[in-house]
Amino acid sequence: MTSVVDRLERPLRDIRISVTDQCNFRCSYCMPAEIFGPDYAFLPKEQYLTFEEIVKVVQAAASLGVEKVRITGGEPLLRKDLPELVSELTKIDGILDVALTTNAVFLPKQAAALKKAGLKRVNISLDAIEDDVFKQMNGRGVGIKPVLKGIEAAQKENLQVKVNMVVRKDVNDEQIIPMAAYFKEKGINLRFIEFMDVGSTNGWKLDSVITKAEIISKLEDHFGVQPMNPAYYGEVASRYQYADSKVEVGVISSVSQSFCSSCTRARVSVEGKLYTCLFATKGTDLRALLRDENEHDLKEVLSQVWNTRTDRYSDERTEETAATRPKIEMSYIGG
Ligand code: GTP
Ligand code: 5AD
Ligand code: SF4
Ligand code: SF4
Repeated sequence: MTSVVDRLERPLRDIRISVTDQCNFRCSYCMPAEIFGPDYAFLPKEQYLTFEEIVKVVQAAASLGVEKVRITGGEPLLRKDLPELVSELTKIDGILDVALTTNAVFLPKQAAALKKAGLKRVNISLDAIEDDVFKQMNGRGVGIKPVLKGIEAAQKENLQVKVNMVVRKDVNDEQIIPMAAYFKEKGINLRFIEFMDVGSTNGWKLDSVITKAEIISKLEDHFGVQPMNPAYYGEVASRYQYADSKVEVGVISSVSQSFCSSCTRARVSVEGKLYTCLFATKGTDLRALLRDENEHDLKEVLSQVWNTRTDRYSDERTEETAATRPKIEMSYIGG
């Protein structure tokens, strides 16, 4: 195994793969319904990387030191036969962790097959514990019940579960304490995520962000929390533990306290473009190489791309960059 570092000495360790750009939700911060309406042109399925192609990309990444693969979207459970992909990925030499980020609605149907395929853990998005607030956040009027059922289904299969909540000021910030109380009682690790300016359709403004400091102060006042060390190098969430229990709670502070200096993540879009940052504007077309009649050495390509990487968007973010830099939608590039 050869390892590779970028211009800022950051190794390549994780790969996040978007397996579909479609979703059954229309979260206001990700795929606002006004933009992603009935006429929105999603990618035709022939343009998706096939499972075989994804496996080739991950094999090349693993030969460069990647140990962790995250399957994202859009909503990855909308991709047909996903357990087959999971099964192939878990077999790749060097891949130690295959995880999934999902809204959980289809987990009751799929959790058992995913577990059987070798999946160990899922991160589930849920932005409120009160139906009305959640309905507003997901843009499709879906209540919390289907998501809670998805969480139960995952737990029944012994999949490790974390819950992600994106916090938007004046929309769901009143839900911080009720969500914390609910998941503390359930013994599930909840992570609050600062609302980010991904894509160019979600109307992001700096003052719509509730910062990590504000979130921790609320948690501290209500429950008492103590900081914990990161679980692994480059973990995006800062971890805390409630004073009176072993349950963890976290905050992902991509805006107020960015973590670019330890960012080891590459992303692959639905159609096989390789991006070295969530906020990148240009990707490398791996699909063209995979489908070319001439053989290409993917490992070499990944290595070269990573070698020249200088991305640190969240370190550089200002209201101006957020408003003026062209950006790619998260459902396409993969959260
Ligand atoms: P674990 O492996 O469980 O630690 O997962 P994770 O937290 O890395 O992944 P998840 O898909 O649950 O992501 C949670 C949030 O962190 C999402 O809002 C992501 O967009 C954000 N996030 C993950 N990686 C990055 C990153 O490289 N940059 C930025 N800015 N945000 C990221
Ligand atoms: N800001 C912060 N997090 C976001 N996610 C999607 N869009 C945004 C955004 N604009 C989150 C989802 C999911 C994870 C993959 O990314 O809620 O939990
Ligand atoms: Fe779908 Fe997740 Fe985006 Fe919400 S955040 S629209 S559930 S991909
Ligand atoms: Fe990594 Fe880009 Fe996110 Fe910074 S903004 S942590 S470089 S993906």
